[in-house]
Amino acid sequence: MRDVAVIGVGCTEFGEHWGTSFRDLFVNAGALALEDAGVTGEKIDALYVGNMSAGRFVEQEHIGALIADYAGLASNNVPSTRVEAACASGGLAFRQAVIAVASGMEDIVVAAGVEKMTDVGTGASVDMLASAADREWEGFAGATFPGLYAMIANDYMHRYPLTREQLAQVAVKNHENGARNPIAQFQNRITVDTVLNSSLVADPLRLFDCSPITDGAAAVVVVPLERAREFTDSPVRVLASAQASDTISLHDRRDISTLDATVAAGRRAFAQAGLTHKEIDMVEVHDCFTIAEICAIEDLGFCKKGEAGRLTADGATALNGEIPVNTSGGLKACGHPVGATGIKQIYEIVSQLRGEAGGRQVDAEIGMAHNVGGTGATVVVHILGA
Ligand code: COA
Repeated sequence: MRDVAVIGVGCTEFGEHWGTSFRDLFVNAGALALEDAGVTGEKIDALYVGNMSAGRFVEQEHIGALIADYAGLASNNVPSTRVEAACASGGLAFRQAVIAVASGMEDIVVAAGVEKMTDVGTGASVDMLASAADREWEGFAGATFPGLYAMIANDYMHRYPLTREQLAQVAVKNHENGARNPIAQFQNRITVDTVLNSSLVADPLRLFDCSPITDGAAAVVVVPLERAREFTDSPVRVLASAQASDTISLHDRRDISTLDATVAAGRRAFAQAGLTHKEIDMVEVHDCFTIAEICAIEDLGFCKKGEAGRLTADGATALNGEIPVNTSGGLKACGHPVGATGIKQIYEIVSQLRGEAGGRQVDAEIGMAHNVGGTGATVVVHILGA
Protein backbone atom coordinates (compact mmCIF):
# COMPACT_ATOMS: atom_id res chain seq x y z
CA MET A 1 0.00 0.00 0.00
CA ARG A 2 1.25 3.50 -0.84
CA ASP A 3 1.17 6.44 1.56
CA VAL A 4 -1.41 9.07 0.56
CA ALA A 5 -1.42 12.88 0.88
CA VAL A 6 -3.96 15.67 0.46
CA ILE A 7 -2.55 18.38 -1.81
CA GLY A 8 -5.51 20.73 -2.23
CA VAL A 9 -8.84 21.61 -0.63
CA GLY A 10 -11.84 23.78 -1.49
CA CYS A 11 -15.21 24.50 0.07
CA THR A 12 -18.19 26.70 -0.78
CA GLU A 13 -19.83 28.84 1.86
CA PHE A 14 -22.38 26.75 3.75
CA GLY A 15 -25.93 28.08 4.04
CA GLU A 16 -28.92 28.70 1.81
CA HIS A 17 -27.81 28.90 -1.84
CA TRP A 18 -31.09 29.61 -3.56
CA GLY A 19 -29.33 31.22 -6.53
CA THR A 20 -26.87 28.38 -7.14
CA SER A 21 -27.75 24.99 -8.62
CA PHE A 22 -26.68 21.63 -7.21
CA ARG A 23 -24.19 21.11 -10.03
CA ASP A 24 -22.73 24.63 -9.70
CA LEU A 25 -22.19 24.13 -5.97
CA PHE A 26 -20.05 21.11 -6.77
CA VAL A 27 -18.19 22.81 -9.62
CA ASN A 28 -17.38 25.82 -7.40
CA ALA A 29 -15.88 23.64 -4.65
CA GLY A 30 -14.03 21.45 -7.16
CA ALA A 31 -12.48 24.47 -8.89
CA LEU A 32 -11.26 25.84 -5.54
CA ALA A 33 -9.66 22.48 -4.67
CA LEU A 34 -7.95 22.10 -8.06
CA GLU A 35 -6.65 25.66 -7.93
CA ASP A 36 -5.34 25.06 -4.41
CA ALA A 37 -3.63 21.84 -5.56
CA GLY A 38 -2.23 23.40 -8.73
CA VAL A 39 -3.78 20.57 -10.74
CA THR A 40 -5.63 20.92 -14.03
CA GLY A 41 -8.71 18.88 -14.91
CA GLU A 42 -7.03 16.71 -17.55
CA LYS A 43 -4.66 15.27 -14.89
CA ILE A 44 -7.49 13.81 -12.79
CA ASP A 45 -7.63 10.01 -12.78
CA ALA A 46 -10.85 9.51 -10.82
CA LEU A 47 -13.61 11.24 -8.89
CA TYR A 48 -15.56 10.06 -5.82
CA VAL A 49 -18.60 12.16 -4.87
CA GLY A 50 -20.37 11.86 -1.52
CA ASN A 51 -24.07 12.60 -1.80
CA MET A 52 -26.94 11.35 0.31
CA SER A 53 -30.17 12.14 -1.45
CA ALA A 54 -30.05 14.34 -4.55
CA GLY A 55 -32.80 12.13 -5.95
CA ARG A 56 -35.19 13.46 -3.34
CA PHE A 57 -33.73 16.91 -2.57
CA VAL A 58 -33.33 18.08 -6.19
CA GLU A 59 -34.86 15.17 -8.14
CA GLN A 60 -31.53 14.28 -9.76
CA GLU A 61 -29.91 10.84 -9.74
CA HIS A 62 -26.80 9.57 -11.58
CA ILE A 63 -24.73 12.08 -9.64
CA GLY A 64 -21.30 10.67 -10.52
CA ALA A 65 -21.91 11.20 -14.24
CA LEU A 66 -23.58 14.59 -13.78
CA ILE A 67 -20.69 15.91 -11.73
CA ALA A 68 -18.04 14.59 -14.14
CA ASP A 69 -19.92 16.21 -17.00
CA TYR A 70 -20.31 19.65 -15.40
CA ALA A 71 -16.76 19.56 -14.04
CA GLY A 72 -15.60 19.24 -17.66
CA LEU A 73 -14.24 15.71 -17.13
CA ALA A 74 -16.65 13.77 -19.33
CA SER A 75 -14.67 14.51 -22.51
CA ASN A 76 -11.70 12.68 -20.91
CA ASN A 77 -14.01 9.87 -19.80
CA VAL A 78 -12.78 10.19 -16.20
CA PRO A 79 -14.35 7.51 -13.95
CA SER A 80 -16.71 9.16 -11.48
CA THR A 81 -18.47 7.34 -8.66
CA ARG A 82 -21.19 8.46 -6.27
CA VAL A 83 -20.73 7.26 -2.69
CA GLU A 84 -23.72 7.08 -0.33
CA ALA A 85 -23.70 6.45 3.41
CA ALA A 86 -26.26 9.03 4.60
CA CYS A 87 -24.51 11.83 6.55
CA ALA A 88 -21.21 9.89 6.31
CA SER A 89 -21.24 10.00 2.48
CA GLY A 90 -18.46 12.63 2.36
CA GLY A 91 -16.16 10.80 4.79
CA LEU A 92 -16.71 7.60 2.87
CA ALA A 93 -16.00 9.29 -0.50
CA PHE A 94 -12.69 10.49 0.97
CA ARG A 95 -11.95 6.95 2.16
CA GLN A 96 -12.66 5.53 -1.32
CA ALA A 97 -10.26 8.08 -2.84
CA VAL A 98 -7.59 7.20 -0.28
CA ILE A 99 -8.02 3.46 -0.97
CA ALA A 100 -7.83 4.04 -4.75
CA VAL A 101 -4.55 5.95 -4.42
CA ALA A 102 -3.07 3.68 -1.72
CA SER A 103 -3.75 0.60 -3.85
CA GLY A 104 -1.81 2.02 -6.78
CA MET A 105 -4.90 1.89 -9.02
CA GLU A 106 -5.17 5.70 -9.40
CA ASP A 107 -2.77 8.61 -8.89
CA ILE A 108 -4.60 11.96 -8.83
CA VAL A 109 -8.07 11.60 -7.34
CA VAL A 110 -10.71 14.12 -6.31
CA ALA A 111 -12.92 13.31 -3.31
CA ALA A 112 -15.90 15.60 -2.98
CA GLY A 113 -19.25 15.95 -1.28
CA VAL A 114 -22.33 17.95 -2.19
CA GLU A 115 -25.89 18.37 -0.95
CA LYS A 116 -28.56 20.94 -1.75
CA MET A 117 -31.21 20.62 0.94
CA THR A 118 -33.08 23.95 1.06
CA ASP A 119 -35.03 23.59 -2.20
CA VAL A 120 -37.63 21.63 -0.20
CA GLY A 121 -39.40 22.60 3.06
CA THR A 122 -38.24 21.50 6.51
CA GLY A 123 -40.88 18.77 6.80
CA ALA A 124 -39.83 17.14 3.53
CA SER A 125 -36.19 17.55 4.42
CA VAL A 126 -36.59 15.93 7.84
CA ASP A 127 -38.49 13.04 6.21
CA MET A 128 -35.75 12.52 3.61
CA LEU A 129 -33.13 12.50 6.32
CA ALA A 130 -35.22 9.99 8.27
CA SER A 131 -34.82 7.54 5.38
CA ALA A 132 -31.26 7.05 6.68
CA ALA A 133 -32.71 5.49 9.82
CA ASP A 134 -34.76 2.27 9.68
CA ARG A 135 -37.88 3.29 7.76
CA GLU A 136 -39.93 0.26 8.85
CA TRP A 137 -39.04 0.25 12.54
CA GLU A 138 -38.25 3.92 13.19
CA GLY A 139 -39.51 6.22 10.42
CA PHE A 140 -42.99 4.72 10.13
CA ALA A 141 -43.32 5.06 13.91
CA GLY A 142 -42.60 8.80 13.62
CA ALA A 143 -38.98 8.74 14.77
CA THR A 144 -37.02 11.44 12.90
CA PHE A 145 -33.35 12.21 13.60
CA PRO A 146 -34.10 14.90 16.20
CA GLY A 147 -36.35 12.29 17.89
CA LEU A 148 -33.76 9.51 17.73
CA TYR A 149 -30.95 11.69 19.10
CA ALA A 150 -33.37 12.93 21.79
CA MET A 151 -33.76 9.28 22.87
CA ILE A 152 -29.97 9.01 23.07
CA ALA A 153 -29.86 12.24 25.11
CA ASN A 154 -32.56 11.06 27.50
CA ASP A 155 -30.88 7.71 28.06
CA TYR A 156 -27.47 9.37 28.48
CA MET A 157 -28.72 11.99 30.95
CA HIS A 158 -30.48 9.28 32.97
CA ARG A 159 -27.27 7.27 33.33
CA TYR A 160 -24.44 9.81 33.33
CA PRO A 161 -23.81 13.19 34.95
CA LEU A 162 -24.70 15.61 32.12
CA THR A 163 -26.64 18.78 32.88
CA ARG A 164 -28.82 20.65 30.40
CA GLU A 165 -26.43 23.61 30.73
CA GLN A 166 -23.37 21.49 29.89
CA LEU A 167 -25.16 20.15 26.81
CA ALA A 168 -25.97 23.72 25.74
CA GLN A 169 -22.28 24.62 26.13
CA VAL A 170 -21.49 22.38 23.12
CA ALA A 171 -23.59 24.70 20.92
CA VAL A 172 -22.18 27.85 22.55
CA LYS A 173 -18.62 26.67 21.84
CA ASN A 174 -19.42 25.65 18.25
CA HIS A 175 -21.14 28.98 17.51
CA GLU A 176 -18.05 30.76 18.92
CA ASN A 177 -15.91 28.81 16.43
CA GLY A 178 -18.41 29.36 13.62
CA ALA A 179 -18.22 33.10 14.28
CA ARG A 180 -14.54 32.84 13.28
CA ASN A 181 -15.18 30.79 10.13
CA PRO A 182 -16.05 32.72 6.95
CA ILE A 183 -17.75 29.69 5.34
CA ALA A 184 -20.00 28.95 8.35
CA GLN A 185 -23.80 29.09 8.01
CA PHE A 186 -24.15 30.66 11.47
CA GLN A 187 -21.51 33.23 12.40
CA ASN A 188 -23.31 34.55 15.49
CA ARG A 189 -22.18 34.00 19.07
CA ILE A 190 -24.78 32.63 21.48
CA THR A 191 -25.09 31.97 25.22
CA VAL A 192 -26.35 29.03 27.25
CA ASP A 193 -29.60 30.99 27.69
CA THR A 194 -30.00 31.26 23.89
CA VAL A 195 -30.01 27.46 23.75
CA LEU A 196 -32.22 26.94 26.83
CA ASN A 197 -34.79 29.50 25.64
CA SER A 198 -34.96 28.30 22.02
CA SER A 199 -37.98 26.29 20.90
CA LEU A 200 -38.26 22.66 21.89
CA VAL A 201 -37.70 20.29 18.95
CA ALA A 202 -37.62 16.83 20.61
CA ASP A 203 -37.29 16.83 24.38
CA PRO A 204 -34.64 17.54 25.68
CA LEU A 205 -33.20 18.87 22.39
CA ARG A 206 -34.01 22.45 21.44
CA LEU A 207 -33.49 24.39 18.20
CA PHE A 208 -29.93 25.37 19.14
CA ASP A 209 -29.05 21.73 19.95
CA CYS A 210 -29.67 20.84 16.30
CA SER A 211 -27.55 21.16 13.18
CA PRO A 212 -29.42 23.11 10.48
CA ILE A 213 -30.59 22.26 6.96
CA THR A 214 -27.81 23.42 4.60
CA ASP A 215 -26.64 23.71 0.99
CA GLY A 216 -22.94 23.31 0.30
CA ALA A 217 -20.09 21.42 -1.34
CA ALA A 218 -16.47 20.62 -0.56
CA ALA A 219 -13.67 18.92 -2.48
CA VAL A 220 -10.13 17.70 -1.84
CA VAL A 221 -7.38 16.31 -4.08
CA VAL A 222 -5.37 13.25 -3.00
CA VAL A 223 -2.21 11.80 -4.55
CA PRO A 224 0.51 9.30 -3.56
CA LEU A 225 2.73 10.91 -0.91
CA GLU A 226 5.79 10.30 -3.11
CA ARG A 227 4.29 12.64 -5.77
CA ALA A 228 2.88 15.30 -3.42
CA ARG A 229 5.89 17.64 -3.65
CA GLU A 230 5.32 17.96 -7.41
CA PHE A 231 2.25 20.02 -6.50
CA THR A 232 2.68 21.64 -3.08
CA ASP A 233 5.18 22.52 -0.36
CA SER A 234 2.67 21.65 2.35
CA PRO A 235 1.14 18.22 1.70
CA VAL A 236 -0.98 16.75 4.47
CA ARG A 237 -0.47 13.05 5.00
CA VAL A 238 -3.30 10.58 5.57
CA LEU A 239 -2.16 8.63 8.65
CA ALA A 240 -5.26 6.45 9.04
CA SER A 241 -8.55 5.68 7.30
CA ALA A 242 -11.03 3.53 9.21
CA GLN A 243 -14.69 2.62 8.89
CA ALA A 244 -17.17 0.63 10.97
CA SER A 245 -20.85 -0.26 10.91
CA ASP A 246 -23.54 -1.05 13.46
CA THR A 247 -27.25 -1.91 13.51
CA ILE A 248 -29.32 0.62 11.59
CA SER A 249 -32.04 0.74 14.28
CA LEU A 250 -31.31 2.30 17.62
CA HIS A 251 -33.42 -0.30 19.48
CA ASP A 252 -31.16 -3.11 18.27
CA ARG A 253 -28.07 -1.56 19.86
CA ARG A 254 -26.21 -3.05 22.80
CA ASP A 255 -26.21 0.42 24.39
CA ILE A 256 -27.91 3.41 22.77
CA SER A 257 -25.68 6.00 24.49
CA THR A 258 -22.47 4.50 23.07
CA LEU A 259 -21.94 4.47 19.31
CA ASP A 260 -20.08 1.16 19.00
CA ALA A 261 -19.16 1.95 15.38
CA THR A 262 -17.40 5.09 16.61
CA VAL A 263 -15.55 3.04 19.22
CA ALA A 264 -14.50 0.47 16.57
CA ALA A 265 -13.54 2.96 13.83
CA GLY A 266 -11.66 5.12 16.36
CA ARG A 267 -9.66 2.13 17.67
CA ARG A 268 -8.84 0.99 14.13
CA ALA A 269 -7.67 4.49 13.19
CA PHE A 270 -5.43 4.84 16.26
CA ALA A 271 -3.94 1.39 15.59
CA GLN A 272 -3.27 2.19 11.91
CA ALA A 273 -1.62 5.51 12.72
CA GLY A 274 0.27 4.12 15.72
CA LEU A 275 -0.76 7.16 17.72
CA THR A 276 -2.20 7.79 21.18
CA HIS A 277 -4.94 10.29 22.09
CA LYS A 278 -2.41 12.72 23.53
CA GLU A 279 -0.81 13.05 20.08
CA ILE A 280 -4.04 14.28 18.44
CA ASP A 281 -4.10 18.09 18.41
CA MET A 282 -7.66 18.74 17.15
CA VAL A 283 -10.80 16.77 16.24
CA GLU A 284 -13.73 17.45 13.95
CA VAL A 285 -16.56 15.29 15.30
CA HIS A 286 -20.05 14.69 13.95
CA ASP A 287 -22.17 17.00 16.15
CA CYS A 288 -25.45 16.67 14.25
CA PHE A 289 -26.97 17.29 17.69
CA THR A 290 -25.19 18.51 20.83
CA ILE A 291 -25.52 15.08 22.47
CA ALA A 292 -23.72 13.57 19.46
CA GLU A 293 -20.59 15.62 20.22
CA ILE A 294 -20.67 14.50 23.88
CA CYS A 295 -20.92 10.83 22.82
CA ALA A 296 -18.26 11.22 20.10
CA ILE A 297 -15.61 12.67 22.43
CA GLU A 298 -16.13 9.75 24.80
CA ASP A 299 -16.57 6.98 22.23
CA LEU A 300 -13.38 8.04 20.43
CA GLY A 301 -11.66 7.64 23.81
CA PHE A 302 -10.67 11.25 24.58
CA CYS A 303 -12.24 10.84 28.05
CA LYS A 304 -14.27 8.31 30.04
CA LYS A 305 -18.02 7.86 29.60
CA GLY A 306 -19.86 10.54 31.52
CA GLU A 307 -17.00 13.08 31.53
CA ALA A 308 -17.48 14.99 28.25
CA GLY A 309 -20.12 17.38 29.60
CA ARG A 310 -17.86 18.59 32.40
CA LEU A 311 -14.86 18.82 30.05
CA THR A 312 -16.91 20.93 27.61
CA ALA A 313 -18.14 23.23 30.37
CA ASP A 314 -14.54 23.59 31.65
CA GLY A 315 -13.36 24.71 28.19
CA ALA A 316 -11.20 21.65 27.43
CA THR A 317 -12.72 21.36 23.94
CA ALA A 318 -12.60 25.10 23.11
CA LEU A 319 -10.09 26.62 20.66
CA ASN A 320 -7.59 27.23 23.47
CA GLY A 321 -8.44 24.02 25.32
CA GLU A 322 -6.53 20.77 25.75
CA ILE A 323 -8.22 19.16 22.73
CA PRO A 324 -10.05 21.63 20.45
CA VAL A 325 -13.21 20.00 19.08
CA ASN A 326 -14.99 21.29 15.98
CA THR A 327 -12.83 24.31 15.25
CA SER A 328 -14.89 24.83 12.06
CA GLY A 329 -18.03 25.42 14.14
CA GLY A 330 -18.99 21.79 13.59
CA LEU A 331 -22.23 20.72 11.98
CA LYS A 332 -24.07 22.92 14.49
CA ALA A 333 -22.70 26.30 13.40
CA CYS A 334 -20.79 25.66 10.17
CA GLY A 335 -23.83 23.81 8.81
CA HIS A 336 -24.61 20.27 7.66
CA PRO A 337 -25.13 19.71 3.92
CA VAL A 338 -25.16 15.99 4.64
CA GLY A 339 -23.16 14.64 1.67
CA ALA A 340 -20.54 17.39 1.97
CA THR A 341 -19.94 17.38 5.73
CA GLY A 342 -17.28 14.63 5.80
CA ILE A 343 -15.22 16.42 3.14
CA LYS A 344 -15.61 19.76 4.93
CA GLN A 345 -14.10 18.09 8.01
CA ILE A 346 -11.01 17.16 5.93
CA TYR A 347 -10.97 20.73 4.50
CA GLU A 348 -10.96 22.12 8.06
CA ILE A 349 -8.19 19.82 9.28
CA VAL A 350 -5.99 20.57 6.26
CA SER A 351 -6.59 24.33 6.75
CA GLN A 352 -5.57 24.01 10.42
CA LEU A 353 -2.49 21.85 9.75
CA ARG A 354 -1.32 24.31 7.07
CA GLY A 355 -1.81 27.25 9.47
CA GLU A 356 -4.49 28.81 7.26
CA ALA A 357 -7.45 28.82 9.66
CA GLY A 358 -7.34 32.54 10.43
CA GLY A 359 -9.21 33.60 13.58
CA ARG A 360 -9.91 30.01 14.62
CA GLN A 361 -6.31 28.76 14.16
CA VAL A 362 -5.07 26.27 16.75
CA ASP A 363 -1.59 24.85 17.24
CA ALA A 364 -1.95 21.54 15.39
CA GLU A 365 0.18 18.99 13.58
CA ILE A 366 -2.21 16.04 13.77
CA GLY A 367 -6.00 16.15 13.33
CA MET A 368 -8.83 13.63 13.39
CA ALA A 369 -12.14 13.61 11.49
CA HIS A 370 -15.19 11.63 12.67
CA ASN A 371 -18.17 11.36 10.30
CA VAL A 372 -21.38 9.51 11.22
CA GLY A 373 -24.19 8.12 9.06
CA GLY A 374 -27.61 7.89 10.73
CA THR A 375 -27.43 7.30 14.47
CA GLY A 376 -24.12 5.51 14.00
CA ALA A 377 -24.83 2.67 11.57
CA THR A 378 -21.85 3.92 9.53
CA VAL A 379 -18.85 5.70 11.04
CA VAL A 380 -15.72 6.86 9.21
CA VAL A 381 -12.62 8.13 11.04
CA HIS A 382 -9.53 9.66 9.46
CA ILE A 383 -6.29 10.91 10.99
CA LEU A 384 -4.22 13.45 9.06
CA GLY A 385 -0.73 14.76 9.81
CA ALA A 386 1.16 17.84 8.66
N1 COA B 1 -29.82 26.28 14.87
C1 COA B 1 -30.03 27.60 15.03
N2 COA B 1 -30.92 28.32 14.34
C2 COA B 1 -31.62 27.65 13.41
C3 COA B 1 -31.45 26.29 13.16
C4 COA B 1 -30.50 25.59 13.94
N3 COA B 1 -30.29 24.30 13.77
N4 COA B 1 -32.27 25.91 12.17
C5 COA B 1 -32.94 27.01 11.78
N5 COA B 1 -32.54 28.06 12.54
C6 COA B 1 -33.05 29.43 12.49
C7 COA B 1 -33.16 29.98 11.09
O1 COA B 1 -31.97 30.66 10.73
C8 COA B 1 -34.34 30.90 11.21
O2 COA B 1 -33.90 32.11 11.81
P1 COA B 1 -34.54 33.51 11.38
O3 COA B 1 -36.01 33.41 11.70
O4 COA B 1 -33.80 34.48 12.24
O5 COA B 1 -34.26 33.62 9.91
C9 COA B 1 -35.24 30.21 12.20
O6 COA B 1 -34.38 29.36 12.99
C10 COA B 1 -36.32 29.37 11.56
O7 COA B 1 -35.71 28.61 10.54
P2 COA B 1 -36.44 27.41 9.84
O8 COA B 1 -35.64 26.99 8.65
O9 COA B 1 -37.88 27.75 9.64
O10 COA B 1 -36.30 26.28 10.95
P3 COA B 1 -37.17 25.03 11.09
O11 COA B 1 -37.96 25.11 12.34
O12 COA B 1 -37.91 24.76 9.82
O13 COA B 1 -36.06 23.85 11.23
C11 COA B 1 -34.95 22.24 12.60
C12 COA B 1 -35.34 23.72 12.40
C13 COA B 1 -34.17 22.10 13.87
C14 COA B 1 -36.22 21.37 12.71
C15 COA B 1 -34.15 21.78 11.36
O14 COA B 1 -33.03 22.61 11.23
C16 COA B 1 -33.69 20.34 11.51
O15 COA B 1 -34.43 19.41 11.25
N6 COA B 1 -32.41 20.11 11.87
C17 COA B 1 -31.87 18.77 11.98
C18 COA B 1 -31.30 18.31 10.67
C19 COA B 1 -30.91 16.86 10.72
O16 COA B 1 -31.59 16.01 11.28
N7 COA B 1 -29.79 16.52 10.09
C20 COA B 1 -29.30 15.17 10.04
C21 COA B 1 -28.70 14.82 11.32
S1 COA B 1 -28.31 13.12 11.49
